[in-house]
Amino acid sequence: MTSNPGNRWVGVILAAGAGSRMRSSLPKPLHGLCGRTLLEQATWILREAGIERIVVVASPMLAADPRLSAATDDGMTIVVQSEPLGTGHALLSASGSTGGASHLLVANADMPLITPGTVQTMLATHVDAGAAITLLTGKGDVPEGFGRVRRGPDGQVIEIVEQVDADEAALAIDEFNAGYYCMDADVAWDLLVGLKPSAKGEIYITDAIAAAVADGRRVTAVIAPDLSEVIGVNDRTELAAADAVLRARIRRRWMLDGVTMTDPDTTYIDSEVMIGRDTTIKPNTHLLGSTSVGADAMIGPGTVLEDTVVGDGARVVSSHAESATIGDRATVGPFSHLRPGAVIGPDVHVGNYAEVKDSVIGPGAKIGHFSYVGDTTVGAGANIGAGTVTCNYDGDVKHQTHIGENAFIGSGSMLVAPLSIGPGASTGAGSVVTRDVAPGILVAGVPARPIPGRKRSHPTTEGPSSSGDIRSREKRQ
Ligand code: UD1
Ligand code: CA
Repeated sequence: MTSNPGNRWVGVILAAGAGSRMRSSLPKPLHGLCGRTLLEQATWILREAGIERIVVVASPMLAADPRLSAATDDGMTIVVQSEPLGTGHALLSASGSTGGASHLLVANADMPLITPGTVQTMLATHVDAGAAITLLTGKGDVPEGFGRVRRGPDGQVIEIVEQVDADEAALAIDEFNAGYYCMDADVAWDLLVGLKPSAKGEIYITDAIAAAVADGRRVTAVIAPDLSEVIGVNDRTELAAADAVLRARIRRRWMLDGVTMTDPDTTYIDSEVMIGRDTTIKPNTHLLGSTSVGADAMIGPGTVLEDTVVGDGARVVSSHAESATIGDRATVGPFSHLRPGAVIGPDVHVGNYAEVKDSVIGPGAKIGHFSYVGDTTVGAGANIGAGTVTCNYDGDVKHQTHIGENAFIGSGSMLVAPLSIGPGASTGAGSVVTRDVAPGILVAGVPARPIPGRKRSHPTTEGPSSSGDIRSREKRQ
């Protein structure tokens, strides 16, 4: 294995092609699988293999796309290939930007399933063999459109024949070019400038192989250990196929790491997701983006979590959460919607048909039944009754609501923000609360007014029901 490839190697990702088979207005490298764009996936493969410096060859359209700048970092340079004049021309466009690196790892951006381990094997083989070029190949059923790898009688690679230029004999070859290459930088720049355009007017990187052999240089090849690594993405059927392979890999990794999936085939987990041990993922569940789930949690069935953090021992059933946080042992759903900024504290219960947005729900609070809670803080142990609405929007501006610890919000309360309800205070069923409520006070009516002498005697987190029906409490008193 090469020691610290980061120092001597520069990765060059070829991403400037027209991508016309995608039939898309989005540049192909920005199409996604398992939560990453093809370009992010290519970058990930190279970085995991130990290559730190990366040059991306982009089309003018890709270079102008804000999603590209969002995905770049300090170790990455973008160069523009102004016209898609072929893969060889694309690599040449990077020649001024590789900072004098001695070795290049050239990667087609549309090969998302190559594993970092296979790239490391390529780097090691290249160095050990003292090769000028080392290519990655696949052996078996040749996917449509891939170049064939022709070897001489001694088994050495002598050329790559593109499918469009292949005769019957070449078409019968069962080894194909995967589009990942190690190259000595000096040799690459030397060879590429001498290449002639193809019949289509493109300069093919693949022609550098025959040119190197003609120059008496050593070309070696690494055969991918599994054909599933060398699936390319040229159209959307291939994108779906690659997505399926990557998802299966991700699921397998998590199951081997101690996560139970009751129906892996309907469990969708993005690349960046983290999951703790002994968590169970039930069918029809999607864990997307930067979601992380703790240990001993139960997620699903029928749940979508996007960029959401879930604590240990939490349960989320048939619900949808985006950019939300769900605390340890909290229970959510069925049929709840947690929108961005929903922070559900530990031991909270969010029941059915509740929507929470930009709100912090304190430990042990309950929102058991259909409710809207937005721009709100809810204190520990508070009980939000069925049908409660924080009326946070006056048509122009969103206003805040504060609900104190152990407050008891009666069923059907309309809380007209800005509003503050003190700790231990209560609202009667059907109240329209327009003014702040002092700690421990009961208000009721439309608009709600304090009920004299009716302080809650036992502000508590416990209750006969979490439905927020104040009358049942009063009867008990
Ligand atoms: C290429 C190879 C083929 C190989 C296959 C495997 C060539 C000539 N052929 O074919 O042997 O089997 O990849 O992946 O290289 N690109 C540019 N600028 C261009 C043209 C392409 O940056 O002018 C980029 C594309 O964005 C893409 C990559 O290079 O990421 C490969 O281009 P593509 O057109 O997909 O090549 P293939 O026809 O798949
Ligand atoms: Ca391709």
